[in-house]
Order: sequence, then C-alpha cells, then structure tokens
Amino acid sequence: MKQSFRKHSWAEPYKIKMVELLDMNEREDRENFLREAGYNTFLLKSKDVYIDLLTDSGTSAMSDRQWSGLMMGDEAYAGSRNFYHLEDAVRKFYSYKHVVPTHQGRGAEHIISQIMIKPGDIIPGNMYFTTTKLHQELAGGIFKDVIIDEAHDSESEFPFKGNIDLDKLDALVKTYGAEKIPYVAMATSVNMAGGQPISMSNLKALRTYTQKHGIKIIHDMTRVAENAWFIKQGEEGYADKSVAEIVYEICSLTDGATMSSKKDAMVNIGGFLAINDDDLFDEARNMVVVYEGLHTYGGMAGRDMEALAIGIEESVSDNHMHARIGQVQYLGEQLLRYGVPIIKPIGGHGIFIDAKKFLAHIPQAQFPAQRLAAEIYLDAGVRTMERGIVSAGRNKESGEHNFPKLELVRVTIPRRVYTQAHMDVIAESIGNVYSYRHEIKGMKMIYEPKYLRFFQARFELL
Ligand code: F0G
Repeated sequence: MKQSFRKHSWAEPYKIKMVELLDMNEREDRENFLREAGYNTFLLKSKDVYIDLLTDSGTSAMSDRQWSGLMMGDEAYAGSRNFYHLEDAVRKFYSYKHVVPTHQGRGAEHIISQIMIKPGDIIPGNMYFTTTKLHQELAGGIFKDVIIDEAHDSESEFPFKGNIDLDKLDALVKTYGAEKIPYVAMATSVNMAGGQPISMSNLKALRTYTQKHGIKIIHDMTRVAENAWFIKQGEEGYADKSVAEIVYEICSLTDGATMSSKKDAMVNIGGFLAINDDDLFDEARNMVVVYEGLHTYGGMAGRDMEALAIGIEESVSDNHMHARIGQVQYLGEQLLRYGVPIIKPIGGHGIFIDAKKFLAHIPQAQFPAQRLAAEIYLDAGVRTMERGIVSAGRNKESGEHNFPKLELVRVTIPRRVYTQAHMDVIAESIGNVYSYRHEIKGMKMIYEPKYLRFFQARFELL
C-alpha cells in the first residue's frame, strides 16, 4: 500500500471543480430566523445558514467519479446492474455475503429489528443511537448500554472510548440468559459518545465471548472507515495496515451490519442491511419488499446504488481518511486554543462541545446544549445540533426526561465540503460565544413531539 500522505500534512487529496454559493446574512436576520425555528437548529432553513455543521449525514461532496456514476444508472425495476456493483463492493470491502439496499440507515435498522428481536429481548449496545434504539423498542426489545464507563466521562482521554465492557455484557447474560439476547449492537465510531472508536482487540474479545454464548454481533458500520483510521493510528500492530484492510477485518468479526451510507460512503441518500446468514437474509429480502422496494433496489434508484458502490471504495482510501480526520482534529485544536471545553480525544466526524461545562450556570432541565447550539447560530450563522437531554427523550415508564451524563453540542463536519478557512471561522465564532457565556440564559420547551423529539421540538428563551 502506497503511503504518500506521510510526506504531507492532512491537506486534501482532491481539488475543487464546482462551488455552491452561500448567503451571508446579518445577526438581526438570524435572530428572526431562530425565533421562527423555535430555537431548534433542525427547523432552520438551509438557505439561512452560512456553515452547515448540523450533520455529516448526506452532506458530503461526491467525487466526479461518483457524479459520472449517476449517469450510469440502470433504472430497471429488477436486477439493475448497479445493484450487482453494490453487492460486489460490499463483499470486497466489507466482507459481508448478502446485501439488502434500503432508503437509508434506519430502513435497515427497522428490518433487522423486526426479524431478529422478539418482545422482551435484550439488546446490549455500545451506547444508544436514537433511531437504532427506537427500532429495537418498536420490535419489543429493550436496549441496554454496555459501553465502558469512560465513554460517559467527558474528562477521560482513553483512546478507545467506543469499547464494550465485557463485564457489563456478562452481567446481562447472567441475569437474562443468552437466549434472550439475539445480538449485540456494536457500533464503530460511536456517534453519541463523540465519534469515539472501538479497538480491534476489544472487538476480538467480544467476538470470542459472543460466540461462546451463541449471540450474534450486528455492526452499525455507518462510520467504520473513520474507526479504522483510529485503529491504524493508535493500536499496536496496525500502523502498517491500510484503512481498507482494517475495515475488512472489523466487518469480518461480525455477523451482519446496518449501514447509513450517507456518512462514510459519501452519498446523499442510501443505506443497506448486510448479513452473512442465509436464512436471515431470506427473511430480510422478503421483508424489504413490504417496506422499501424489491430486494435489488430496496429504497434506492439505480444511479444512487452506483454512486454508493464508488463511494465505498473512495471511503477506505488512506489519503482520504488522513485528510478527513485531519480536518476534524484541526478544528478541535483551534477550539482548545480558545479554551472551549470539548470531548477528548477529538473524535472522527466532529467536535463535541461539553455544554455542561460551557454553560455551567444553566441547569440541564433548561436545555443548555440546545441553547448553546442556538447561540452559536446567532453569532455567525454556523449551524450545529444538540446531543443532550432533548435527544435523550423521556423514560418510557416514568415519563420523566432522561438526564444523560453527556450534554453536548455536536459540531459535525461534512466530508470534502468545507475548507481550512471555514474551520477558522467556526473556531473564532464559538470562541467568541465562549467569551460571553455568562450572559446566556436557559430555555423552556413549548412543543414536544412523541417520537425523536429533538428533530421537531420548539423552545422559548427564559
Ligand atoms: N446509526 C448511526 C451511528 C447514525 O449516526 C445514524 C444517523 C443512523 C444509524 C441512522 O441512519 O440517518 O441514514 O437513517 N445519523 C445521522 C446523524 C442522522 O446526524 O448523526 P439514517
């Protein structure tokens, strides 16, 4: 494997061929936009945002190769040639035997939950993700967090905060019995923990343990290549392996995967369920017809499957990943220079600001992270998102808010979209908000939807 990037800093391994012009509005305008949006950054209009760091999902810039792939779409109802290209890519880069395309990640989560979870089953996972957990619950399952304690500690600089605590898992097996646990939901680059990786040695130990108990591992592989980069950087024995080799090894230690290809794989929409077991594949292929579409397109157009197959290959390139993570780290280091409290180590897909520390005077029940995301938008038009008490929803039995340990604002970086100068503006703006943080007050929620409330909730300033 050629390692040409070692000679350079994280500079981008591409040049810009086309640009999208942005509006640059005034603070007064933004005050109005924010009020109209109920102080929820999900409800802002994209045209009113200068730098959009709401998510890295579906927001990547596709390459010229991917765009030309769009023109190669075979829009046949059945057996599109692009499906077979996607299937080849999933086998070649991710090791999985079967693939069922879905419209995006949650389509795959829905199917795997329905076919594998029986009411009352326990689903251990390395921290929850919003849609993943909801689909497990809708299928009658109960999610149990088995991530290591360090992941919930914004102070800990442990390099693999995505690791699973095998003692916590073992305690669940002892309490409920292995037959109640169809699979462990193992995510690479744990989103809610701050884009923190799981180590290969932890995954191998998990594999040994679960095989002994007849429990499967279903891999949330949304950001697997970013995780692989951290293993290459930080885990003994992996420095000379390529990202592609590490990705392959991770996947082959698991039984199947759900993928939101809107992240790592750099397409604007799409996802899939991958599975090795022939019988489970049979069920998944049957169920996808009910909810998504025929099993050779699921929820995707032929052209989108083509762009995805190409994006998968680009995503596992060392040069790409060096620049991708390099840019995120660069922003994190700038923020640290302004004294902004962020989760360390700096994760893969963004910076996570510790809102409990940033706005230490605002109680969690007054939504400090939600408030901070709103204030950051106000300052310079940078859109971020809340990952705290609003995202954590309510306890199903008591109806009370869940009070998560981590109360974060996620500053998510789209792939191949923004420049180093943009990173500087973001850091200057958040640094500025930090300088007047004591003047910022809390909020109250005035509208709360039933499911995944963070997307549509509305707030008022106190
Ligand atoms: N799993 C993880 C780890 C995710 O981050 C996401 C989406 C999904 C599953 C669901 O995939 O959106 O394609 O249906 N995360 C987005 C985000 C929404 O902004 O982090 P999806």
